[in-house]
Amino acid sequence: MTTTKFHPEVYTQALTSKSVSYASPSNIALIKYWGKHGVQIPKNPSISFTLDTCKTTTKLSYIKREEINDEYELKVILDGKHKPGFEPKIHQFFGRIESYLPFVKDYAFTIETSNSFPHSSGIASSASGLSALALCLMEMEREMQPEMTFKHFNQKASFIARLGSGSGCRSLEGPLVVWGEHAEIKGSSDMYGVQYPYEVHPVFDNYQDAILLVDKGEKPVSSTVGHNLMHNHAYAASRFEQAVVNLSSLISILETGDLDAFVRLVESEALTLHAMMLTSNPYFILMKPNTLQIIDEIWEYRRETGIPVCFTLDAGANVHVLFPDKDKEQVHEFIKNDLSKYCQDNRYIFDSVGSGAIKL
Ligand code: DP6
Repeated sequence: MTTTKFHPEVYTQALTSKSVSYASPSNIALIKYWGKHGVQIPKNPSISFTLDTCKTTTKLSYIKREEINDEYELKVILDGKHKPGFEPKIHQFFGRIESYLPFVKDYAFTIETSNSFPHSSGIASSASGLSALALCLMEMEREMQPEMTFKHFNQKASFIARLGSGSGCRSLEGPLVVWGEHAEIKGSSDMYGVQYPYEVHPVFDNYQDAILLVDKGEKPVSSTVGHNLMHNHAYAASRFEQAVVNLSSLISILETGDLDAFVRLVESEALTLHAMMLTSNPYFILMKPNTLQIIDEIWEYRRETGIPVCFTLDAGANVHVLFPDKDKEQVHEFIKNDLSKYCQDNRYIFDSVGSGAIKL
């Protein structure tokens, strides 16, 4: 797939604004992205629910630089405090996007950002954070090229977000976004996320995601290192193939609203993700004893009540509990009464599926 369509045309307008702000949500994958090659190209297609409450708000301010050199000029402020530790990642990101958004070297940037979720929650902020920043940068480009279509804006913003965080390219729209080419999904691309294009049963409307914060500690393995361990992994080829097959199955599950099949597929994907970590070289375990306790309790609750509640996992110990909107009250009670004790400081977040980023 060619990336030339994302190289800028000549800018027709001068930039007159001084800042732009976006709020962009996190997302939770149903079919997981784990393994990449080249510059942020996924080894398999993935699909996620966009979240609603868990989001990053970013204000990007800029002034024209007097003197331009090879370095980018930027400052990251998180919750009002300067965080130089986050800046190298943004320098790397700017290096990856400069040929698509060449003005990044012409301005001095201040990136003021805050997350709706607590920082020490172990919730990855890279998807929401990088997608919010990508949208702010694209808004600058749109001001200089006002004839840009809405479709091009969205595709390129997702393409740019991908270069910062793979899963970030799935955060711009909602409620379901596919990233990675799949023969049965029209318009799907390795380069950017696309809104899931087919019919979705109403049982998935306002689907719920309760995030149980099991461990807020620093992850022992970053996602980049984890992705890289899929190179030369004994089960990599079959895993990538399985994700393709699972996405095909999910198309009919989403259409018919077959929640038994949904539960089986989503839990299997989560456990497969962690199975890849358990069987890589070097191997690692991101689940904690309380992750397993929660899984066990969810299975027992599902058996007893027949409510189609299921879990999924990210690259960490936290558990995302997914369930239909109509079961919300009962499942919230179950979480408060039975699962919160497995969470660090009894903390959890009740979220649901959302519709994507918004300009502020
Ligand atoms: C386990 O998007 O964080 O959450 O591309 O290196 O930024 P980078 O990785 P990242 O990987 C997320 C992996 C995952 C599964 C998923 O969201 O699909």
